[in-house]
Amino acid sequence: MTEQDFILKDYKSNSKNGRVKWESPSNIALVKYWGKRENQIPENPSISFTLSNCKTITEVTYTKKEGSDFSFDVIFEGEKNEAFKPKIQTFFERVEIYVPFIRDYHFKIETSNTFPHSSGIASSASGMSALALCLMSIEEELGANYSEEYFNQKASFLARLGSGSACRSVEGELVVWGNTKSISDSSDLFGIKFSENIHPNFQNYQDAILLVDKGEKQVSSTVGHKLMFGHPFAQKRFEQAHDNLAELKEVLVSGDYKRFIEIVESEALTLHAMMMTSMPYFILMKPNTLQIINKIWEFRKQTGSNICFTLDAGANVHVLFPDAEQEKVYEFIKSDLVAYCQNGHYICDKVGKGAQKS
Ligand code: PMV
Repeated sequence: MTEQDFILKDYKSNSKNGRVKWESPSNIALVKYWGKRENQIPENPSISFTLSNCKTITEVTYTKKEGSDFSFDVIFEGEKNEAFKPKIQTFFERVEIYVPFIRDYHFKIETSNTFPHSSGIASSASGMSALALCLMSIEEELGANYSEEYFNQKASFLARLGSGSACRSVEGELVVWGNTKSISDSSDLFGIKFSENIHPNFQNYQDAILLVDKGEKQVSSTVGHKLMFGHPFAQKRFEQAHDNLAELKEVLVSGDYKRFIEIVESEALTLHAMMMTSMPYFILMKPNTLQIINKIWEFRKQTGSNICFTLDAGANVHVLFPDAEQEKVYEFIKSDLVAYCQNGHYICDKVGKGAQKS
């Protein structure tokens, strides 16, 4: 597939109005994407667990209009929101060649998240994928007729142009994004479902998101990605991501917890190591992030649990563990980790099956 394959052909303006609605989950990367080229092309491949409970729900009402300027309103959690508009404007500019009807309609975009807005959980992946899926459903209502595969690929392709990692939120349970030798059909343009048989050890995997710091990040991912240009360790890091993904593919099939933990924790710390060795350098972890990591290591050593952690571009800690360990890990979280969470807050999530039309 190339970019050309995603351009809506033979589009004729018609005067249909309507409403579409999607809910799309967040995702957590196991092998991290950090560094991108022009047009949101990743410098290295990544793989993520699609989540289940942390979702964005977006309803788009479209009405035929005159004139060719973009026209849209954003209503976030019931209130008109101006702050989200520039990001959506940029998204529309990037995708208009693929969905030319967006200049012919006014869009009322009503959106909300199932997780608290100021939780430090990025809503760009779930938000952009929900919006991309709404555009795809409108495209269908205007006459396009697609296979499920093409629909998902184009939705992921559009979502990527909104926010890179959003392209991994369309399907579940594991999604690979970025061209890499070990995964056939992998692409830099969109995410694909990991198609190997996932070992039962990794099915229904749990993710407890410990909210260490709910504030705005001091450095956005957009800026962070850019700092990988000319970064002294960038090339080696990009190679490492290919190797880690190839090995993780085997691990997910064989059920090897030990290597899973090593790869996933190393990826998380490497992501933050890249931030700490950028110029300018920055640190997104907080003292409590490190306290939690040390507690997890201690608990694993003492109990033989298969618990591990990963990090996003922020201070929050994703605690990953097998379904079978739910009881004992949640007990541990309550007794030992909640004290490090801001206002004692954490979110219980798990691997999910992808976005849903409602
Ligand atoms: O999708 P972006 O541009 O916000 O980048 C997110 C990158 C990480 O979350 C840090 C890693 C990843 O692969 O999701």
